[in-house]
Amino acid sequence: SNDAKANIGVVGMAVMGSNLARNLASREGNTVAIYNRSPEKTHEVAKNHPEANFVASDTIDEFVASLAKPRTAIIMVQAGAGTDAVIEQLKERFEPGDIIVDGGNANFHDTIAREAKIAPTGIHFVGAGISGGEEGALKGPSIMPGGTAESYETLGPILASIAAVAEGEACVTHVGTDGAGHFVKMIHNGIEYADMELIGEAYDLLRNVAGYTPAQISEIFATWNRGPLNSYLIEITIDILKHVDAETGKPFVDIVTDQAGSKGTGVWTVQTALDLGVPVGGVAEAVFGRAVSSKRNQRDAVRALGIERPTAPRVDDSFVDDVAKALYASKIVAYAQGFDAIIAGAEKYGWNIDKGAVAKIWRGGCIIRAQFLNVLADAYETNPNLATLLEAPYFAQAIRDGEEAWRRVVITATQAGVPVPGFATALSYFDSLNVDRLPAALVQGQRDFFGAHTYKRVDKPGTFHTLWSGDR
Ligand code: ATR
Repeated sequence: SNDAKANIGVVGMAVMGSNLARNLASREGNTVAIYNRSPEKTHEVAKNHPEANFVASDTIDEFVASLAKPRTAIIMVQAGAGTDAVIEQLKERFEPGDIIVDGGNANFHDTIAREAKIAPTGIHFVGAGISGGEEGALKGPSIMPGGTAESYETLGPILASIAAVAEGEACVTHVGTDGAGHFVKMIHNGIEYADMELIGEAYDLLRNVAGYTPAQISEIFATWNRGPLNSYLIEITIDILKHVDAETGKPFVDIVTDQAGSKGTGVWTVQTALDLGVPVGGVAEAVFGRAVSSKRNQRDAVRALGIERPTAPRVDDSFVDDVAKALYASKIVAYAQGFDAIIAGAEKYGWNIDKGAVAKIWRGGCIIRAQFLNVLADAYETNPNLATLLEAPYFAQAIRDGEEAWRRVVITATQAGVPVPGFATALSYFDSLNVDRLPAALVQGQRDFFGAHTYKRVDKPGTFHTLWSGDR
C-alpha cells in the first residue's frame, strides 16, 4: 500500500518483543511497525516510548499494510501455539519474497517443519535464535538466524543493526538453512547449562571443602575473572555471591531454595545429542543435576539414613588454583562436546555451519559470552576439520596444564562427599578419549555372546562371530 513506511515489524509486545522493537527503532534507518493480539499492549508500548516513533496497528491487516516490501516481520510471541497462530495470519497476507522471522525459542524440529510448509508459497520463513534475555533484546543480543541465504540479504543488515558488537563485529551470522539457527541456539543453551553447573560445583568445593564464605568465594571468582575463565557467567556469579539478603542479613545463596528449575532447552540439547550419537555428558549432568536438586523427597529420604558426609580432607591455598584449573578443563570439554553436536547436526540436517563464525557471534550479547570464545573461534578458523576441540594447540595445552589439578579436585570432592557430576563426567570423557584400550571390547564380546551381534578384530579385517555355547 502507499502509506507503507516501516522497513521492519514486530508481532508480540510482551517483554522480549517490545524490547526488540525498541532496539530496532533506536537504530538509524529503521522504522518499526508493532502489533500485539491484545491492542492495549501495543498502545502502552507506543505511549511509553514516543522516541521510538512506532507505527502501531490494532489489527493484523493494518500491521501488514504498514510494512514496506519486501515485508519483514519478526514474531516474538509465546512458543508453540502462539507462534503457529501468528505465522498463519501473516502467511495469509504476505506475498512471495516477504520474510517471516520467528525470534522465539522454537524447537528446531518445529522450525524445519514450518519452513518446509511455508517455502512453497515463496514467503521466506526464518527461525532465528535470539540470546541475551530481556536486556539483550533491548541493548544488543546474539542472533542466530536460519532460513534461506536470499532472506538473509534483506534480514542480515537489519539484524546486524541491533545485534551486540564484539571486537567491532556484529554478533549475527547466517547460521545455515531452515532450522540451523534454532538448532545452534539450542546448543548454546545446552552449553550454558553445563557452564552454570560447573561454576556451581566450583563454588560448592570452595565452600564445603576449603571452607570459604560466599563473600570470600566472590573475591576468588573476581580474581579468576581476570584470567582465562573471564566470562559473563563468572561476572554475575561474583555479584550473586556477595549479595546479602536484606531481610535476614544472610548470604543470598543461603536463603534461596536449592532446587533449580529449567525451561527445557537443556533437555532438548541432550535429547538431540542422544539422537545424533554425540556424547554431551557436561550438558546431561547439568540437566540431571537440576533434576536431582528438585527431588526433595528423595533427598530427604537419603538424608534420613544418617550416613554422615565424610570430613573434608585438609586442603591448602593451592586448592583454589586446582579448582580453577579443573573448572577450565571441564569447560573446554563442555564446549568441545557442544561443537561436536553442532558438527553432527550440520551433517544430519544438511547445514553448512561455520564453527568459527558461531563462536564469534557468541562473544557478545548472550549468556555464555566470554573471552574464551575468541580462542575457540581461532581454533576452528585455523583448522575447520579438528577431530575435537581438545586437539587444538591452545586447548591441548590447557588440558595438559590442568590435568593433575583436575584429578586432585575430583578425588578430593569424592573423599569429601561433595557431588561433582560435571567435573567428573568431563574428566572421564577426557580419559575415555585418552586411553589406548576401552572396555568397549568387552561390551562387544557380551553383545556377540547373547545376541550374535558380531565383532571386528584388531589383527585382521572382516566380521566375526564366536560360537559361545562351547564356553559354558
Ligand atoms: P513473555 O514470556 O515475553 O512475557 P510469552 O508468554 O512468551 O511472553 O508470550 C506472550 C506474548 O505472546 C503476548 O504478546 C501474547 O499476546 P497477548 O498480549 O494478546 O496475550 C502473545 N500470544 C500468545 N498466544 C498468542 C496467540 N495465539 N496469538 C497471538 N499472540 C499470542
